Amino acid sequence: MQEPTAPQKQIIFSGIQPSGTPTLGNYIGAMRHWQRMQQDYRCIYCVVDLHTLTVRQSPAALRKQSLEMLALLLAVGLDPAQTVLFLQSHVSGHAELNWVLSCYTYMGELSRMTQFKEKSARHADNINAGLFAYPVLMAADILLYQAHLVPVGADQKQHVEICRDVALRFNGLYPGAFTVPEPYIAPNGARVYSLQDPAHKMSKSDAEDTYISLLDRPDVVRRKIKRAVTDSDGEIRYDPQTKPGVSNLLTILAALQGNSVADCAAALAGMGYGALKDAVAQTVVDTLSPMQARFDALMADKPYLEQVLAQGADQADRIARRTLEKVYKKVGLCPRPR
Ligand code: TRP
Repeated sequence: MQEPTAPQKQIIFSGIQPSGTPTLGNYIGAMRHWQRMQQDYRCIYCVVDLHTLTVRQSPAALRKQSLEMLALLLAVGLDPAQTVLFLQSHVSGHAELNWVLSCYTYMGELSRMTQFKEKSARHADNINAGLFAYPVLMAADILLYQAHLVPVGADQKQHVEICRDVALRFNGLYPGAFTVPEPYIAPNGARVYSLQDPAHKMSKSDAEDTYISLLDRPDVVRRKIKRAVTDSDGEIRYDPQTKPGVSNLLTILAALQGNSVADCAAALAGMGYGALKDAVAQTVVDTLSPMQARFDALMADKPYLEQVLAQGADQADRIARRTLEKVYKKVGLCPRPR
């Protein structure tokens, strides 16, 4: 008897820069949902090492961070048997489609990008063409895989918009070239703020003591949370307006325990901030420790990581080639004689 064919899963594509370890905020806002998403979607996750070159990198550090990012993706529960995991530079189609799309993207739309304006202010000595064209490569990443959904944080929404605009423009000229992607906003992606300045999002580009990195070991986690900013009224209550520090700690606790902030606050009612911080620190440690153990084991097994990368590159390349051949044909490039 023939198996009924499963309905086609929607394709999710996301790119992750190998520049530094993600924070607890990245984990709570996005990464903790990835394991479950593999069942509902066809997931493709790409470590975007080419994008990282837009800012000067130490070659040895970049190589190390690319492998570490892969190990972290595996450690949070992505399964290479279900999900395509690879390095962007291993699939040449990204650079090739980037060129074609750059001929269909306007200088005007690129110069409106907030991230370009910010990054060129921050790296005034190195405003290179890659920094300017960054969103084109990102559009190539997404469109190569005919992705339906792109999980991104608020800061990347503008880039997904430009990707959509380019895809629609291209499809207008050459119908059926690309799937037009939508940004995917995680249904319960809580927002985590800086431990020292809870008006700002937790970010790894801020000072060390403002964020928790996924690789912070227990003593570091405990110290950072003990020093987190609270307030002086002493009541454990969720109220982001007047009690942003305490509310941020409750958000972390609730997300990691799978409870509501109200239940977490109720369970700690009448206790002091010391008790709240102990509970948060313990929950964070309990979440990160098993992940870090998996990460350490993976980093000690280079042959395995390389095997995952080789398999991922093959899978990604097969999909990317199909799109690229279609695009080359549509724009009028001659097929290479066999
Ligand atoms: N620009 C994204 C960031 O900095 C990374 C990225 C590159 C990406 N290509 C992508 C994200 C494609 C989603 C889809 O976070």
